[in-house]
Amino acid sequence: MGIQSLGRISIIITLNVLEAKDFPIGCVFVAFCRISDRVVALDAVLMLFFLVESAVPACRSIGYSIVMKSILVTGGAGFIGSHLVDRLIAEGDWRVTVIDDLNDFYSPGIKRANIAGHLGSKNYRFLEADIRDVSALAHLFAATKFDCIVHLAARAGVRPSLAEPRLYFETNVTGTLNLLELARERGVKQFVSASSSSVYGINGKLPFSEDDRIHQPISPYAATKAAGELLCHTYSHLHDIRTVCLRFFTVYGARQRPDLAIHKFTKMISEGRPIPVFGDGSTRRDYTYIDDIIEGVRASIDYDGSIHEVFNLGESQTVELRELIELIERSLDMHAVIDRQPMQPGDVPITFADISKARELLNYNPTTKIADGIPKFVQWFRTTGI
Ligand SMILES: NC(=O)c1ccc[n+]([C@@H]2O[C@H](COP(=O)([O-])OP(=O)(O)OC[C@H]3O[C@@H](n4cnc5c(N)ncnc54)[C@H](O)[C@@H]3O)[C@@H](O)[C@H]2O)c1
Repeated sequence: MGIQSLGRISIIITLNVLEAKDFPIGCVFVAFCRISDRVVALDAVLMLFFLVESAVPACRSIGYSIVMKSILVTGGAGFIGSHLVDRLIAEGDWRVTVIDDLNDFYSPGIKRANIAGHLGSKNYRFLEADIRDVSALAHLFAATKFDCIVHLAARAGVRPSLAEPRLYFETNVTGTLNLLELARERGVKQFVSASSSSVYGINGKLPFSEDDRIHQPISPYAATKAAGELLCHTYSHLHDIRTVCLRFFTVYGARQRPDLAIHKFTKMISEGRPIPVFGDGSTRRDYTYIDDIIEGVRASIDYDGSIHEVFNLGESQTVELRELIELIERSLDMHAVIDRQPMQPGDVPITFADISKARELLNYNPTTKIADGIPKFVQWFRTTGI
């Protein structure tokens, strides 16, 4: 075989290997086939091209993982958390870790269904663990450096907190403290924490504004959420961690917790069962559609203003309970049978958010009115049958 044909073979092999993007094998072949000056010159050009070809994707992937931010979402298998994770995965530049203990406050099967669509994402990791378990948390934080924590895990719900105040305290207060401590130790700079409209308690002033006093909670749940806010303030002040506390006002939409009125009533009415209505139906709530809440949470992750801030995230509209039931009836095209019950201890007569601060500092602008949101929820309920 002459030098010319060896040269041609060299080029063909090099081009084939180049195609396969196998850099080490390509180098061996190129070195092996240096036969004539002409081929060496050609090989040099190909080698250079090959190097650039191999280096670009490597650099891209290194650069990509440097640019990608790491976020911990506690309670990410729950209603609000799973929607937030949908959003973060869709954005594509987050490495998302979720910690959730999948407890049976409501069916763990629902929570597993909430995360089913996330598990296939390469930038998603799920850890089934309890935020009260300090050693599980320490393990997690030792392995991963988080840029931000969105803390949504909690025992939620006002009425059950009266029966199990200790459990609510340990989860919502001690659990929050555990996370703040690890944020301090590991230098996490942004901590977004779920609070609740219930912290306003029997506040007589309407609408509720972030400057109102929150010293009159009327349920253990509300007290734990207020305590969580105070801990956040303390850690911001002492340790330079930016904490953003979000007071959610009754959130609804697809995957809403089954214990909450909209979900519970929709299910019971659709099954022809009487719905328990506490009081005369005149209580009022500020209902917030999940997409609007997620906009607010997302903006809080980027919030870079003051070191500690509290925001109301509501719709700033109040709806009477009897009006809500009518909306559900119309959407289902069914009639509700009312089982009237006395007002429940712990329930507040009204929630009503002043959202001017969130509008100004988070660019928060809720757009889904209850008259549009309820039919959307009912549509989701019908398709999933949960
Ligand atoms: N949904 C609302 O209307 C509303 C209103 C005000 C405040 N909030 C707050 O928003 C947050 C999210 O609420 P949600 O409605 O999505 O509730 P959710 O119950 O659907 O989600 C909370 C998740 O936290 C998990 N969790 C609970 N205890 C845990 C523990 N010890 N360790 C690990 N994981 C644990 C649960 O398994 C659940 O998946 C909560 O902090 C809640 O108090 C919700």
